[in-house]
Amino acid sequence: MKKRMILDTAMLMTFLLLLDYRFVHNRGHEILGILFLLLALLHTKWNLSWYKSLHRGRWTKQRIFSILVNGVFILSFLTVMASGLLISRTVFPFHPHLSFWVNGLHQAVGYLMLIALGLHLGLHWQTILPRMQKGLSLRPSKALSWMNRLLMILIVLSGIYFSFDAHIGNRLLLLSARGSAFNSPGWFLFSRLMMIGLYASLAYYGQKLLSRK
Ligand code: HEM
Ligand code: HEM
Repeated sequence: MKKRMILDTAMLMTFLLLLDYRFVHNRGHEILGILFLLLALLHTKWNLSWYKSLHRGRWTKQRIFSILVNGVFILSFLTVMASGLLISRTVFPFHPHLSFWVNGLHQAVGYLMLIALGLHLGLHWQTILPRMQKGLSLRPSKALSWMNRLLMILIVLSGIYFSFDAHIGNRLLLLSARGSAFNSPGWFLFSRLMMIGLYASLAYYGQKLLSRK
């Protein structure tokens, strides 16, 4: 469990850092992208049982939802990686005349991946939260459960705010997006984390709703 938590956290940190293109520049972005790919390969190895059991078991609404979410996430990941390698300037600079649309595809699907990553995490919120509380030596209590609720509300509200601030809709559709007031590296990381938190909460409550009889 501990090694999974370390790997998941390392992947999340790598993802957040590589998104800040202005801060890490092209070289940093590409190297972090390759690092993310390597970590994701290990993560896939540790979760191979999920792929193997895909054709087994009952097709409940909850299961269809989680397969759809993971499917979109994995597809967006593969598209971002393939297009990233094609437009690479520093790590694999062999395609200088590639058409403009591969660039656009890479950027738009990069943002789709941020949303899908949030949803992917939300599917596991129920196991992540106790792991985090154990890590922080917090004992389950009424006060803690109220704190969790309050924190969730704050994450959702700031996730909505930062999604508008980042013009995520425009970015997905490759329309022009004005710069944000929160573009220092610290604010950038925080805003992307809150956005991931918002989409995670959507998947978490979506799954809860679907499991109701
Ligand atoms: C920041 C990146 C990611 C985070 C934080 C993350 C988090 C998690 C967590 C917490 C789990 C539960 C089991 C475990 O901890 O290993 C999990 C399962 C899984 N992850 Fe990821 N993941 C990430 C990226 C990826 C990527 C890139 C892929 C695919 C290429 C992927 C595919 C899967 C699969 C197939 C499972 C098992 C299916 C499931 O239970 O939903 N994940 N992930
Ligand atoms: C999880 C992996 C990745 C994600 C989510 C991602 C996402 C993005 C995003 C959102 C941008 C636009 C940045 C901005 O202007 O603010 C971008 C640009 C770029 N990415 Fe990635 N990327 C990933 C991996 C890679 C990899 C592995 C490579 C190459 C080895 C790569 C090469 C590039 C290049 C060359 C640009 C600049 C495109 C331009 O200026 O028009 N990316 N990426």
